[in-house]
Amino acid sequence: MSITTGDFRAKITASTLLDKKQRHEIITCLTAYDYAGARLVDEAGIDMALVGDSLGMVMLGYENTLPVTMQEMLHHTRAVRRGVKRAFLVADMPFASFHISQRDSLRNAARFIKDAGAEAVKIEGGEKRARLIARLVDAEIPVVGHIGLTPQSVHAMGGYKVQGKTLQAVEQLMHDALAVERAGACCIVLEGIPREVAAMITRELEVPTIGIGAGPECDGQVLVFHDLLGLTFAPPAKFVRRYADLGSVIANALLAFKDDVKTGGYPSDAESYHLPKETLSALETIAQRKRAVQV
Ligand code: KIV
Repeated sequence: MSITTGDFRAKITASTLLDKKQRHEIITCLTAYDYAGARLVDEAGIDMALVGDSLGMVMLGYENTLPVTMQEMLHHTRAVRRGVKRAFLVADMPFASFHISQRDSLRNAARFIKDAGAEAVKIEGGEKRARLIARLVDAEIPVVGHIGLTPQSVHAMGGYKVQGKTLQAVEQLMHDALAVERAGACCIVLEGIPREVAAMITRELEVPTIGIGAGPECDGQVLVFHDLLGLTFAPPAKFVRRYADLGSVIANALLAFKDDVKTGGYPSDAESYHLPKETLSALETIAQRKRAVQV
């Protein structure tokens, strides 16, 4: 067991995030879906690694996040667990894994902690989910809330639309944020809401807010790994900043490989294994004898 020392490499926990808010230190979060991505996120010193159900779209090619299953989420969370040492590891509860009954929801949430090594689960929804969040927290399962544009509600919302634009909607969002905080969530993702509303909620809450498409006043920011690296195929949303165009880098590398193989440029002699000298000369001797017998 290690003791938190406050240095750069100290393990990030739910209480570190609260400390950061109190010290006005910004929180960084990225999604991670596999071992390699998790290592890169962790070794870059990102505070939170989120196994988002966005993996359904960017890793599995689903049209939206609704088909993602518990099995898929657990599989990816285990891979991320193996790559993360320092970051706070959060797993998204997929659609319908926390909507059927409280008993079912508790069992599913516990699987993320017990079987997959997550340190918290994330649940989409505001006031409606408060009772469930309180139950999970009571069972020692840290919970990250998620309000605003909640992608699992895509049909109910009539598409991926910025939320909280009318006075009534702003009041409902504030209500949702406070209900989720009171229920015991350790931080709350604010997605797809006006900057001014995110700023108000961030000021009002004691727990940190992590924004995505919610402006710069949140206590932290999260982006989808593939969006940030240019590994998606659809045009990115307004809030996405592409820090790299790895899609083009990869495409060019694949074309170069294809070209090299077709033209005999790969593999070269230096990229081939060779027989030891003795084995080679023994083989040559055998071949010479065979030729002599045939003559
Ligand atoms: O699924 C996800 O990746 C998310 C983040 C975008 C917050 O919920």
